[in-house]
Amino acid sequence: MSATSAFTEFVQPQMGRVFTALGLDVEYERAEGNTLYHRDDQGELVPVLDLMGGYGSLILGHNHPEIVAHAKELLDQNRAVHAQFSLRGEAGRLGAALSDVVRRETGIKEPYLATFGNSGAEAVEAAVKHAELVRVTKAAALAEEIAAHLEAARDAVRSGAATVDPDAHQLPALQGQAAPAAGIEGLLAAIGAHNAAVLTTKPLFLALERSFHGKLVGSVQLTYNAGFRTPFQNLGTRVRFVPMDRPELLDRIAEDERVVLLDTELADGRVRVVERDFPAITAFMVEPVQGEGGIHALTAEQGRAIRLFCNKVGTALIIDEVQSGMGRCGAFLASSLIGLRGDYYTLSKSLGGGLAKVSAMLVRRSLYQGEFDLIHSSTFAMDDFSSSIARKVVEMLEADDGRVYRQVTERGERLVEMLADLKSAYPDVIEEIRGKGLFVGVQLRDQGEARSMVLRGSAYTGALGYLLSGYLLRQERIRIAPTGSAGNVLRIQPSAHLTDEEIERLRGALDRLCRILRYEDTLHLVHP
Ligand code: F0G
Repeated sequence: MSATSAFTEFVQPQMGRVFTALGLDVEYERAEGNTLYHRDDQGELVPVLDLMGGYGSLILGHNHPEIVAHAKELLDQNRAVHAQFSLRGEAGRLGAALSDVVRRETGIKEPYLATFGNSGAEAVEAAVKHAELVRVTKAAALAEEIAAHLEAARDAVRSGAATVDPDAHQLPALQGQAAPAAGIEGLLAAIGAHNAAVLTTKPLFLALERSFHGKLVGSVQLTYNAGFRTPFQNLGTRVRFVPMDRPELLDRIAEDERVVLLDTELADGRVRVVERDFPAITAFMVEPVQGEGGIHALTAEQGRAIRLFCNKVGTALIIDEVQSGMGRCGAFLASSLIGLRGDYYTLSKSLGGGLAKVSAMLVRRSLYQGEFDLIHSSTFAMDDFSSSIARKVVEMLEADDGRVYRQVTERGERLVEMLADLKSAYPDVIEEIRGKGLFVGVQLRDQGEARSMVLRGSAYTGALGYLLSGYLLRQERIRIAPTGSAGNVLRIQPSAHLTDEEIERLRGALDRLCRILRYEDTLHLVHP
């Protein structure tokens, strides 16, 4: 059975057909650096310039020799890979290394604790769960404190040491509740009823429009794309999506989403009712550079507004660096480039060096809930093979005072320079070049008004980027994918070893593609 039919028959029936329809149905056999190889009909190996880069998981390229050698060493040593329920030395050393790098790059003093997983979405799920554990713990402590105050108020009135303040019922939350005549018992009953309702408030998360945080049950709730999220929204928590470029909305959101518990205080022989902010928002999750949503970078100002909002409402900031981290934008954390500090970070993709599947959720030590590692785990997480490879990757990124980060920045500047040349030559075809480091998006103009039905139709269905990916692979032997949620944005994510020749090769290919789009010479796009 051919690779295509087995894949289509037994794994992904829909995607298999899409790959065949778009000429993307090749099976890659070998890979090195920025090159993938598949066989042609004559059985010859065909090199393909891979600018998809494993959806951003190959900042050091395919099968980097040092990482392969390290993996071989681990296997030759018959390393104990799975030794659950024991002291995991490699995981510990990786956790320490990650904490050191985050503190170095952000200037944050306190260490970060790591929870490991196997995929980016798993790290997001761990952050969501831990932040919710913090919230419910905070809520329970507040409820306990209030219960003690209510008891004290009841005792004070019963002993004659205090009377109920005549204005006690004026608070908006108590409107329509028991009248003053009902005395302390009526007041406490009204407060109890209000608080009981508030304590059942479903937690709220905030995320940015165009966000992508994964497709597991919890993480998909935070992913903006309705196609990915809507079928499953009854399975998950409440999420409010915030426009990235409207920081002024945050104050209104803080007001909108404010929830209070009622408490009593004793002063001057009076029992007064006071409001206490209830922790209704579990966390705000952001990508410093949105990837799947179309390559949009947060500005320092937007980042600052989000940080101040989180500080003001007392909620956690989870910075999802699964795609933008690990050097992709020219630093270990893309957020550090805009001075944005997180309470949590999620990392994955290139952390595995292109060989291992590993993710990390990092949380500030002072936030860490001790019982979390007893109630959250995964069979394959913290395995020595992945942890050791990941630590090797961190060492390689940090070597020579961050040489790879500087290389990513310099290569990214060369790449964007070339793309900017193309944009000025084809302003009618290329709308915008965006991104940071080697995380670059080429936004093509909408082809919805094209004369060609092929272009109009693919624009209408959001398939333009996929159509062009098939052309680039078949005719130019270059792999570029559109961003999943913005079909007219080509996402370019090569390794740090991108050469000038590869950049020039891309220039030639995109120049030919822009001419096809300009003159609507679409036969090339659909030619077998
Ligand atoms: N968070 C971000 C910011 C991501 O870009 C991704 C995946 C995930 C989480 C989920 O990681 O796939 O390992 O579970 N992004 C890929 C993309 C799918 O298309 O950009 P995962």
